[in-house]
Amino acid sequence: MATRRKLKKQVYFVIGGLILIIIAIVFGISKYQEYKYHQTYEYKLLEHGYNDEEVTKILDNFKDNADLDYLLNNEKNSNIIKLLDEKYYLDKNFYEYVDYMNEFPDLELKDVVRNINIHLDKDFYEETFDANTSLDTSMLVNKHYLLSSDYAPDDLVNVSQTYSWGELGSQRVREVAYNAFLDMWNAANEEGYYLMINSSYRSYEDQEAVYNSYKSSSGERYADSIAARPGSSEHQTGLAIDIFSKTNTNKNTFSESAEAKWLAENSYKYGFILRYPEDKVDITGYSYESWHFRYVGEDIATYIYENDITFEEYYAYFLED
Ligand code: DAL
Ligand code: ZN
Repeated sequence: MATRRKLKKQVYFVIGGLILIIIAIVFGISKYQEYKYHQTYEYKLLEHGYNDEEVTKILDNFKDNADLDYLLNNEKNSNIIKLLDEKYYLDKNFYEYVDYMNEFPDLELKDVVRNINIHLDKDFYEETFDANTSLDTSMLVNKHYLLSSDYAPDDLVNVSQTYSWGELGSQRVREVAYNAFLDMWNAANEEGYYLMINSSYRSYEDQEAVYNSYKSSSGERYADSIAARPGSSEHQTGLAIDIFSKTNTNKNTFSESAEAKWLAENSYKYGFILRYPEDKVDITGYSYESWHFRYVGEDIATYIYENDITFEEYYAYFLED
C-alpha cells in the first residue's frame, strides 16, 4: 500500500514538473516574441506616434531601412505621410519634398510636390540640364532643359503659303507636326475658321536675335516673360507653332477671338497643347500666349488637356528618368 502511494506521489511530482516546464517554455516563447516585435519598424513607428493606417502606408511605401530610420530620427509629421497620397508624388524626390515642405509650411502639399518635380524651387535658368532630344516629339525644352546651339531637327518641311505669310520656306516645321496641323486646319476650316502660322521653326541664332531684340528694347525681365533665351525655345525643336487667324494676328487681342477659343478647346485632338496658358504663368515662366501651340502627340496632349496640367508636370511624372 505504502509503495503504491509513494509511486502515485512520484507521478504527481513528475507531472507537476512537466507542467511547470511547459509553462516556462510558453512564457519564454511569448517573451521572446514580444522582444522580437519590439525590434520591428511597425512597433517603433507606432511608438513614435504614427497611427495604424499611417504605419501600414509607411511600410508599403518605404522599403529601405534608411528611409524608415529617417522617420524615426525625426519628429513625427503626418504631412510626410500625406505626401505619399499626392497624385504626382515621386519616390526619388522624397527628401527634397520634406526639406521644401519644412521651408514653406503653408504651401499645399500638391504644390510642394509639383514645385520640386519641375524644379520650381530653383530660379529659372539657375540650374539647367540638357534637353533629352531622344524623346523626340515629347522632349521638354524650357528654362531648365536646354538645347545645344547646334541642335536642329532633320525633317523640317516648308509650310504652304495657304497657311502662312511670307515666302515659301520662311516657315518650317517638323513633318509630324505639320501633318497634325493640316488635320487641325481642316477641322477648324470646316467650322468656318481660317488659321495661319505666324512663326514656326527658329534656329538657335534666330532665337538669339528674337530674345536680344526684346532685351535691348525692354530689358531682361520683360524679355524673359515673353521670349525664350537661345537654347530654351521650343521653336528650336520644330514642334512649336504660333497660330493666329487670317483676320487677327494681334497678340493683344487674339485670345478673345473665336479661333483662339477653338484652338484652346480642340487642339489636343490633333496632338497640340496650349503651351503657356493664362493660369500657369508661374509654372511656365511665360506670359499667356494664346497662339503658341506645341506638338506632343495625341495621347500626351489629351492627358494634359483633361488633367489641366502643364507639359512640365507631365514630363516630370511620366517621362523623366
Ligand atoms: N515665346 C516663346 C516663349 C519662345 O520664345 O519660345
Ligand atoms: Zn511661340
